[in-house]
Amino acid sequence: MSGFSIAWLDLREGADFAARDKTLATQALAWLGQASDSVSPDRIIVDLGAGTGSTLRALTNLGANNIVWRLVDLDGKLLDEALRRHGKQHLIEDYQADLTIIQELPLTGAHIVSASALFDLVSAAFIDGLVDRLDARKTAVYAALNYDGSTTWSPAHPLDKKVLDAFNQDQHRDKGFGPALGPDCTAYLQKALENKGYKVTLQPSPWQLTAKDQALLTELIQGIYAAVGEGYGLNSGELNDWKHFRLAAIAEGTCTLGHWDLLALPR
Ligand SMILES: C[S@@+](CC[C@H](N)C(=O)[O-])C[C@H]1O[C@@H](n2cnc3c(N)ncnc32)[C@H](O)[C@@H]1O
Repeated sequence: MSGFSIAWLDLREGADFAARDKTLATQALAWLGQASDSVSPDRIIVDLGAGTGSTLRALTNLGANNIVWRLVDLDGKLLDEALRRHGKQHLIEDYQADLTIIQELPLTGAHIVSASALFDLVSAAFIDGLVDRLDARKTAVYAALNYDGSTTWSPAHPLDKKVLDAFNQDQHRDKGFGPALGPDCTAYLQKALENKGYKVTLQPSPWQLTAKDQALLTELIQGIYAAVGEGYGLNSGELNDWKHFRLAAIAEGTCTLGHWDLLALPR
């Protein structure tokens, strides 16, 4: 178990699909198309922190086919769900494994290592170790939906900035990889890959949420409220006001929450 429920991953998936940069995803697939050869005709994507298979679904919707999907996750229940949903139509190799044991990740023969909504959870040390392994075989990287620390609400509330500052501090909490990079993850991953000579392209992929995303917005607001409630010096009365204002504003308000997608190709 890793603390990500099927219900939460399902809830965010619509917003993730809409947000994911389609140009970058299509470039990743085009690169994959020319990467396989007659010696190793299988095209292999290793999806780290795969959950129930969101990356598989997103890239399949954009035309990915004949892929061997190696799905890696610590949470066996999520992998079982991925297999239940896709095991008949796709070639899936599932690996229940802890990503932090980098040397044992099943990367052999991989053309692309992908991830969605993962890299803001990880530490600098994890990225350093992973990039060393990827560089050894010049494996491409496609990492989507990495939180960037920006969240803009409409209508505004006077506590928005303080809540966001506290939330972004909380994003650095250890999620099992050491101190998390949180909003700094995209810049860190970009630099680590560029230092190895990769060609890195970034595209923004913000969630753009409105009243139609009521269930997701409700969970998001409750999640932010819970994350910043202790240890960040916010007045509990003011914070309660903020939460009630935000929940009441869902019906006519908007929320833009920033992410970046990254594609790194070996030269
Ligand atoms: C935010 S979820 C994203 C899931 C999926 N990629 C998606 O977009 O729906 C992060 C995923 O990383 C997995 N995870 C977290 N820490 C992990 C670890 N140490 N080893 C393997 N998987 C881990 C979780 O189980 C979860 O499935």
